[in-house]
Amino acid sequence: MINLVVGSQWGDEGKGKLVDLLGKNADYAVRFHGGNNAGHTVIVDGKKYPFHLIPSAILNKNIVGVIANGVIVDPAVLIEEIDLVEKDGMSLKNKLVISDRCHLIMPYHKALDEAYENARGKNKLGTTKRGIGPTFADKVSYNGIRFYELINWNTFVEKFEFQARIKNKILKLFNVSPINIKKAISNYRKMRERLLPYVKDSYQILSQAVAKEKNILLEGAHGVMLDVDFSPYPFSTGSNVTTGAVNTGSGIPVNKIDNVWAVVKAYLSRVGGGPLPTELFDKNAEDIREKGHEYGTTTGRPRRIGWLDLEAVKFTTELTSTNNIAITKIDILSGLKKIKVCIGYKYKGKKISMSSCGYKELAELTPVYKSFPGWSEDITGIRKFEKLPKNCQKYVKFIEEFLKVPVKIVSVGPEREENIYA
Ligand code: GDP
Ligand code: IMO
Ligand code: MG
Repeated sequence: MINLVVGSQWGDEGKGKLVDLLGKNADYAVRFHGGNNAGHTVIVDGKKYPFHLIPSAILNKNIVGVIANGVIVDPAVLIEEIDLVEKDGMSLKNKLVISDRCHLIMPYHKALDEAYENARGKNKLGTTKRGIGPTFADKVSYNGIRFYELINWNTFVEKFEFQARIKNKILKLFNVSPINIKKAISNYRKMRERLLPYVKDSYQILSQAVAKEKNILLEGAHGVMLDVDFSPYPFSTGSNVTTGAVNTGSGIPVNKIDNVWAVVKAYLSRVGGGPLPTELFDKNAEDIREKGHEYGTTTGRPRRIGWLDLEAVKFTTELTSTNNIAITKIDILSGLKKIKVCIGYKYKGKKISMSSCGYKELAELTPVYKSFPGWSEDITGIRKFEKLPKNCQKYVKFIEEFLKVPVKIVSVGPEREENIYA
């Protein structure tokens, strides 16, 4: 069985929680794209784990976590995360694999990310400043350095010096201090010792797992509305976030995937810049942000809040071939008198689809809303769909009918057990 989890909106839909849940019976949990711009929260027995690189299902006992070739890795962040998991008594020896094809995020990538953002001034994109764009840019321009080079230390040093010298010249143009090359190399030497035991050919491991019909869980990061091709570029992340990214990012063929789960947050949030048609600026936004703890898992930034945008989610669920939906954070809507959902867009008086919108159209269009009466009960303790307040049931049913995809899980709280299964 192969399950894929994708975020259907602009990220932070609650993928980490669903992945941990679906990971219960999985043999392998795989990250296949992105980097530590992702922040996936898992809460087990009240303890919070913010995963950025290690697959979020790792806490399940028999699972092996694979950071496959499509992921870019900041080794310092990965070591911190390994320490966080191991501090709680779980050894990652033979439980974590890093592909030798993974590209490394270097100090000059982070410096460049920040320098470009500062230079953009009021047009800044709001990246996580984790070096994501510059690392992917180096990957596709043949300037990247991978774990493969880290294995062959002399090659690493040679390539690092070459790249860092050029990047330092670029940083100088931005009036930014250069990277200390000697110090950086010495840091990478230390981190190399920690990480090399995990470095393997992840393609072999995963293709054998597919052949043996193992249970594999693929953990998408970000949200499909941030996909580098299908988002309102440049308000994007550096990865493809669609189902196709599984094949390029791990080697697993897409036709082997049994289920694509889209995580749909009952409202929406976004960190970073860019147009957001259903964005709220009123008291509802403040209330939802506070009640839903909508602050970035990676950067701590307050998240922008909006009504659920089904025009966007319809686009992303179709694009990813979604066949199961998990709705999350519907408990946060309890207490609102009226809840709105966007069911289409109007641009210059005419209907327009999400896929036809660039950032200009998205910024100027008018969302078409359907209003729902709210409910006042706290629903966190409810475990049966029929026990939910009638208005809440109607809200879920509407999402299901609109998207024409079955809602299989309704999450009513951050803890592992706080779910309703359809
Ligand atoms: P991800 O990036 O998609 O994994 O999402 P994040 O971890 O960045 O943000 C989701 C936040 O919502 C986390 O703090 C989760 O613990 C929390 N969460 C997930 N599902 C639910 C839910 O159904 N209800 C509530 N109240 N919180 C949830
Ligand atoms: P998870 O997996 C929310 C956004 C950033 C920024 C844009 C580009 O936790 O849902 P980048 O650093 O990737 O170059 O920034 O993409 N972004 C995310 N927003 N959740 C994420 O991941 C994100 N990953 C990237 O906020 O707007
Ligand atoms: Mg997140």
